[in-house]
Amino acid sequence: MSPAMLEVRDVSMNFGALRALDNVGFGVTEGTITGIIGPNGAGKTTLFNVLAGKYRPSAGQVTFFGNDITGFSPDRICKMGISRTYQSARPFPGLSVTNNVRVALLYGRADDGNGGESTSGQSADEQIGEILDFVELGNQAAKRGEDLIPIERKRLELARALATEPRLLLLDELVAGLTPSETTEMMATIRTIRGRGVTVLLIEHVMKAVMGLSENIIVLHHGEMIAEGDPEAVSRDESVIAAYLGFQQED
Ligand SMILES: Nc1ncnc2c1ncn2[C@@H]1O[C@H](COP(=O)(O)OP(=O)(O)OP(=O)(O)O)[C@@H](O)[C@H]1O
Ligand SMILES: [Mg+2]
Repeated sequence: MSPAMLEVRDVSMNFGALRALDNVGFGVTEGTITGIIGPNGAGKTTLFNVLAGKYRPSAGQVTFFGNDITGFSPDRICKMGISRTYQSARPFPGLSVTNNVRVALLYGRADDGNGGESTSGQSADEQIGEILDFVELGNQAAKRGEDLIPIERKRLELARALATEPRLLLLDELVAGLTPSETTEMMATIRTIRGRGVTVLLIEHVMKAVMGLSENIIVLHHGEMIAEGDPEAVSRDESVIAAYLGFQQED
């Protein structure tokens, strides 16, 4: 097994008296899809907020390709190649779909300052068009981000994250609220992204999606990592079953 691209070591995050993450540690291998599950309030989004630099952890360390990135700013972490989507989609107010993606493309990449031209000489507009087609928002390009329906907002979240050219993509409940057929479609999109060499870490409550996509699954409960393993092992794990009792998933 190749060494982990991302290493999370003994990370804890306190909010006052609340310990939202308690000594969490795991590694993510480049080229894989890793799922993070756990009941509401387990600390999943808080973990993303630590990885993406929104919060400096109260304790512990995060390394990316061996570099300590603990406490780096969100901007710096994004430019290093970690980008994220938000659980509740947050389009930039007043901006068109195209310009939402443009902001990410111009300011979220390591090589910003070159007008967004790609290494192969593609203009920013050409790249934005391709990204929007890829997430099936090509025909909504002129609309304002906030005028999109919820599913389209999720696609815009993904488009913006992709525009920064991530090496590690953090997806926070990207399929939540989608119909079964939309979920299947989004799962295929995520597989395609991984196929292009992007490593994926995804938080999901929809078991069909997380079990179907992930090679490795991390289970959080009350801020603690209670299990880690392949989908089959995790779904048979007694502490995982206990954590989910009374928390039925229909799909
Ligand atoms: N900025 C904050 N200040 C105080 N408490 C916070 C903050 N962010 C998260 N929390 C608390 O930390 C705990 C974990 O929250 P988090 O959002 O990480 O859960 P989650 O696993 O993503 O849940 P969900 O599945 O509902 O999205 C919760 O009790 C939450 O209220
Ligand atoms: Mg969350």
